[in-house]
Amino acid sequence: MNILAIIASPRGMQGNTGRLLEEVIAGVDATGGVTEIISLKSLTVKPCVACDVCHKTGVCNIDDDYELIKEKLLACDGFILASPNYIWSVSAQMKALFDRCNGLIHCMALEGKYAVMVETSGGGEDQEVLTYMGRFVNTLGANVVGGVGSPVAGVRTFPDEENLYATARTLGRELCQSISEKRIFAEQEGFRAEFRGRMAGLVDMMKEYWPFEREFWARKVGK
Ligand SMILES: Cc1cc2nc3c(=O)[nH]c(=O)nc-3n(C[C@H](O)[C@H](O)[C@H](O)COP(=O)(O)O)c2cc1C
Repeated sequence: MNILAIIASPRGMQGNTGRLLEEVIAGVDATGGVTEIISLKSLTVKPCVACDVCHKTGVCNIDDDYELIKEKLLACDGFILASPNYIWSVSAQMKALFDRCNGLIHCMALEGKYAVMVETSGGGEDQEVLTYMGRFVNTLGANVVGGVGSPVAGVRTFPDEENLYATARTLGRELCQSISEKRIFAEQEGFRAEFRGRMAGLVDMMKEYWPFEREFWARKVGK
């Protein structure tokens, strides 16, 4: 089982979020999964320029590392999104990646995949950031297995650390088990169905301009 972990801290795996992510990955390891870690700090993902080329051709026109990450997302069984809380949201590195995934979102191209989220903060609003990342996962068509977030208690340390790490390891195991069992998260189906209708409608409205997405949806609906 092939898991992709994307960490969006400018400190990479050396920061607080990296520490918590290590525990989620330990849970994946314990279940026989194999994790590839991608640190956005070492890659270049520039902001989206709204050129719409991805909608037309399926490939982004910007010359950087986005297409590489996209191919890895399309190839994995499950993924982990890990970000520090930056002003009640994800870091700019993660937000740039989210925006660049706009073409994947229009196609809900990650349907059938599973994801978990990891977040750390200086002082709180952890759930707000986890919920935001989870919404991104669902708009890609993927299932949210769960998330873990916490304020810090110092450098790479957390309050009630033993319990937090146990929760993080369980989350890693749950990610792998959800993939093996093809678990259904019924409470997410309503949002996804509504969003599917919205994206199919948008692509239909733009069918003249966005041939790649038109063909993608024709194949998806034809399935
Ligand atoms: C630019 C910036 C913005 C931040 N904004 C918040 C915030 O809004 N709320 C909060 O609780 N912590 C905030 N923090 C603190 C980080 O979320 C926290 O230190 C986190 O654990 C850092 O993770 P890292 O070591 O993996 O980068 C911010 C830190 C930075 C550098």
